[in-house]
Amino acid sequence: MKISIIGAGNVGGLTAMRLAEAGFGDIVLADIAKGLAQGKAFDLEDAGSILKFNYRIQGTDDIENIKDSDIIIITAGLARKPGMTREDLLNKNAQILKDVCLKIKKISPQSIVVVVTNPLDLMTYLALKITGFKSNKVFGMGISLDAARFVNLINKELNIPSTDIEACVIGSHGEGMLLLPRFTTVKGVELNELLEDEKIKVLIKRTLERGQEVVSLLGSGSAYFAPSQAILSIVRAIVKDEKRIIGVSACLNGEYGIKDICIGVPCRLGKEGIEKIIEFDLNKEERPLFLKSAESIRRNLDLIKPFCHGL
Ligand code: LAC
Repeated sequence: MKISIIGAGNVGGLTAMRLAEAGFGDIVLADIAKGLAQGKAFDLEDAGSILKFNYRIQGTDDIENIKDSDIIIITAGLARKPGMTREDLLNKNAQILKDVCLKIKKISPQSIVVVVTNPLDLMTYLALKITGFKSNKVFGMGISLDAARFVNLINKELNIPSTDIEACVIGSHGEGMLLLPRFTTVKGVELNELLEDEKIKVLIKRTLERGQEVVSLLGSGSAYFAPSQAILSIVRAIVKDEKRIIGVSACLNGEYGIKDICIGVPCRLGKEGIEKIIEFDLNKEERPLFLKSAESIRRNLDLIKPFCHGL
């Protein structure tokens, strides 16, 4: 198994560490910045000696080294600065994504591509269009991170361990994310039965703002511990053919009555990538909110069309 990570910033570097330690195969960490990926890879090799792990990790500034990867994780691109939305990153990151995806298409046509670059749902769609891969092979990490954040805040509120909490988030990895208390459970009990509406609203708002809160506190860069962990669980589901249900940004083809956009939905993940898109039976309050989230993504699709010209 060969797993490549494009972008050796905080998320890419930490993902490389987690994947190496999980022993999933050979890791390539690539970044156009001279020396950055190689420096991190050397450091990780040295850590492996202390751990007595024989993982193989290559750091490179030459993207050719991702050739024939089984899985490629794209973290390349700019991160938010305080006050920026994920959408503010669009133009710069779309150009980076385009270059990277044209290369993937050419030298790694069998790979499964996991997009992490923001704005996530738009970048996932762009990666899908530019590679031309089947839609089960290209998807984005976003809402599983949001669900993890929701679980953490519920844990703190109720003083119940995270292991007993299952949170459900769908929609865009952005302002339009939709946290679903009806599908969020503590040992099978709906969140609605454990907390009053006002309290739930506060937790939802805090979850929505959590990424931004981290950005503001860090001062530069965005979150990376939880994002890299969320990437690890997606990669594990593929490598181990787990068939786990994890929320990812997937291209819909009629599910939820929506076509041809990438948006966060629960999916069964295994060795083929997305093996099934799970459709929740949304009620009359939830459905319009999901459609609204989808519409906000669709409106922005025009902004990435220029990057698809000439394909
Ligand atoms: C966040 C970035 C990774 O939510 O989108 O922290």
